[in-house]
Amino acid sequence: MQSKCSSPLVLPKAAKPLCGVLSMPGDKSLAHRAALFAALAEGESEIDNYPDSGVTRAMRGALDSLGVSTSLENGVLRVAGNGFKPFPNRDATAYCGNSATTIRLLAGALVGTGTSAVLDGSEGLRKRPMNRIVEPLRQMGASIAATDGHAPLEISFAALSCIGYTLPVASAQVLSCLQLAALGASSESRFTVFAPVRNHTTRMLNSMGADIHEHHPDIFVNPLSAPLRPLHGRLPGDISSAAFIFAAAAIVPGSRVTVRDVGVNPTRTGFLDILSKMGAKISYANRREEMGEPVADVTLEAAPLKGIKVHGDVVVRAIDEIPALAVVAAFADGDTIVRDAEELRYKETDRISAIVTQFKALGAKVWESREGFRIRGGTLSGGESAANGDHRLAMSLALAGLRADVAVSGAEILNESFPDFVNSINALMADH
Ligand code: S3P
Repeated sequence: MQSKCSSPLVLPKAAKPLCGVLSMPGDKSLAHRAALFAALAEGESEIDNYPDSGVTRAMRGALDSLGVSTSLENGVLRVAGNGFKPFPNRDATAYCGNSATTIRLLAGALVGTGTSAVLDGSEGLRKRPMNRIVEPLRQMGASIAATDGHAPLEISFAALSCIGYTLPVASAQVLSCLQLAALGASSESRFTVFAPVRNHTTRMLNSMGADIHEHHPDIFVNPLSAPLRPLHGRLPGDISSAAFIFAAAAIVPGSRVTVRDVGVNPTRTGFLDILSKMGAKISYANRREEMGEPVADVTLEAAPLKGIKVHGDVVVRAIDEIPALAVVAAFADGDTIVRDAEELRYKETDRISAIVTQFKALGAKVWESREGFRIRGGTLSGGESAANGDHRLAMSLALAGLRADVAVSGAEILNESFPDFVNSINALMADH
């Protein structure tokens, strides 16, 4: 059920520990890739546990505008692939909503397949930086016009040459965009990325028959020599949604929560490592692979939390979970200091500034730096806050309501990514 909260969202204070076992909808990063790569394959793909939320509808809507329709029934996505060639609807305008993954990955796919089209999106998406993909795509020979470095992006057919390129920002979206373009280039391309950005694109494309190999810090992509095979399988549960369940359990003493079938690709588990360093007890069971991705049942048991320093590679592996970290830090003992996280300023909102402003509004002592923040545990007293158009900030602020009186306005934005958030938290409060 979608949470309908046009009035401020107020979670009830937790009167007892959170307990229970949950499953998450499929991972959004994998879902975007599965829909798009299935469109580029030859044959019909069938993908189970496909999440239905604002951002995944954005990719499906954009593919539909380009002439590849998808159907989603009972959690199963079916896509009749068009092959790695120009999309059927040339010169179409594809609307990518609020989803940066959609616009950036699609740009690479359009360039790689030689499709002329326009990619556009919401007002928020039009503010996200696009030069990070436009410049290297142009170096490959792409014809791509942006509006002052932003969407709309107008892409026209052009022959592509290979490239050797070092990414100036640690971004999986940029890397994936360039990898898709490189599938249609004249010969092998090399991309160098020093940080452990999520590697779903390499894993999934290779499972479909592409030839991509990684020798850290280099990733070599060969042009396709045979059609991509269609995808069949079940998406792992979304660790970036599960993060909010784990954060809830971590801040309510005595809690014990298991999330089953959750993706535990090491490029995505930074938040679990951070929680464990802060003192939460985390265990993994039933480790296996689904669709070429590591999956496990993950249990968190609450334990006294201490503030820590978070910096370096773990920030990249937890880049979407820093809002969830903020609420955990607010209930830890001592200061938590986040550094090396300047990329947060280029997300759905400037997440550093938004976290600092909104947690201050809840009475917490928080300090901002260019590339992070410091938050003092035990200082959050409650109050009114605003989601700022950011689904992850909305959930983070709402969770503070488990320990203090907190209202979050604009929280309906959480339907962009985790429509079942409120139901899931309520189930854990009731489930024993
Ligand atoms: C994503 C990569 C990350 C992440 C985003 C999803 C992806 O963005 O923040 O939510 O699916 O590739 P960047 O690549 O910009 O770091």
